[in-house]
Amino acid sequence: MSQKPQIEPLPAELVHEPLNWLFAEHYRHRQLCRLIERVGTATVLLREETEEILTFLRQDMALHIIDEEEDLFPLLRRRCLPEDELGPLLGSLSAEHRDDMEQTRVLTTLLEQALAEGRPPGHDLETRRLFTDFALHERRHIALENAIILPIARLRLTPGDLRALSTRMAARRGVVLDRTEDERPADGLEPSGGSV
Ligand SMILES: [Fe+2]
Ligand SMILES: [Fe+2]
Repeated sequence: MSQKPQIEPLPAELVHEPLNWLFAEHYRHRQLCRLIERVGTATVLLREETEEILTFLRQDMALHIIDEEEDLFPLLRRRCLPEDELGPLLGSLSAEHRDDMEQTRVLTTLLEQALAEGRPPGHDLETRRLFTDFALHERRHIALENAIILPIARLRLTPGDLRALSTRMAARRGVVLDRTEDERPADGLEPSGGSV
């Protein structure tokens, strides 16, 4: 019997509010962290939760990192002022994204093996710690982005930047947003792929 997903879907209307979209996505990452801790420390295989984590890591998590690395962070580097002193933080968050992708591959392999073998993925202390450490680091990363990155983005990004951000994040998920000619961003932040 199929149970209700533990990670809530994103409200569709947030596509027009990209910074609220990213904030809501962070809330979903916190739900992911709770799920990862539960599955990673369980003494039995939680099959549906394991499949939900795998789907989220492969799709939502991967796209979110691309949203930040290819769109949000470049826009912030362009718009932030020297007194924002954002450069070092953006650099360390990008390094964490690279670590996240590596750790995500490790957890994905463990979860796939667990499903194939019908046993819990956290089969010893060391393996369980991979899951709890991932959740710990992810929560810290989200807290920094919510406390510093998103508030500065709200201050510095222009209406055109925000529309371009919406368009690109939507296009990445196969959604085409209408926009008028005068809404096109001036700074070369055009969607790749030409579907919009
Ligand atoms: Fe991030
Ligand atoms: Fe993020």
